[in-house]
Amino acid sequence: MEVIVKETYEQVSCLAAQMVADQVRRKPRSVLGLATGSTPIGTYAELIRMHKEEDLDFSQVVTFNLDEYVGMAPVQEQSYRYFMNDKLFNHINIRKENTYVPDGLAGDIPAACEAFEEAILEHGGIDIQILGIGGNGHIGFNEPGSSLSSRTRVKTLNAATRADNSRFFATPDEVPRYAVTMGIGTIMDADHIILLANKESKAAVIAAAVEGPLTAMCPASVLQLHPSVVVITDKAAAGLLRGEYPTAPHTLVVK
Ligand code: GLP
Repeated sequence: MEVIVKETYEQVSCLAAQMVADQVRRKPRSVLGLATGSTPIGTYAELIRMHKEEDLDFSQVVTFNLDEYVGMAPVQEQSYRYFMNDKLFNHINIRKENTYVPDGLAGDIPAACEAFEEAILEHGGIDIQILGIGGNGHIGFNEPGSSLSSRTRVKTLNAATRADNSRFFATPDEVPRYAVTMGIGTIMDADHIILLANKESKAAVIAAAVEGPLTAMCPASVLQLHPSVVVITDKAAAGLLRGEYPTAPHTLVVK
């Protein structure tokens, strides 16, 4: 695990976007794994800027999103499909048919989950997976206690997650109870993973994920076993880390 601590959220976002852009320039048909939540919004904004000002080309890129609420239609503002269109896809030259978000409305959800996994394989697997982290250590919607080898499936959201996400809904009761999420095994199959975190409210969970014991009760801790993970945090989210970490990736300093 490579941990990089930046001063600000803007710097976190710029570094993550730079890594994604390098990948896309190196391999125009890259397969990106994408996340929702407030954390990656700055990264997406920077990618949009790079597309508009620096010709970053997404015409051959394929994306797979981590998760979607069950029962939520793409036109609903709280759906993750809506979020991705609004925060990224509508502003870059990606082909919509190349953007996969789990289908929360599928009649046969287990079959849709299997098809989602197959589509990832058909596209050659995920090159870079972007992740945020839930306050309880979840990645995607893999709540504490999730099997560390799980594949895409339905998960019941726990009370803390529903409370966290109630800020996007008119009333807490409207937060869906179930979501379709890539499994932890699916996430671990990505070639490279970038975990993003900012704000003091993430300091405890970042310390648990990066330095704590590997446990299913903090699903993000399994990333310690992945051969290529970069954790990028701002100073506030790094506040409870005990190790000393650099402010720039090794790759930029090693000649
Ligand atoms: C949701 C998503 C996660 C995300 C988490 C954190 O629960 N399913 O993928 O990482 O929220 O959200 P935020 O970035 O807003 O803190």
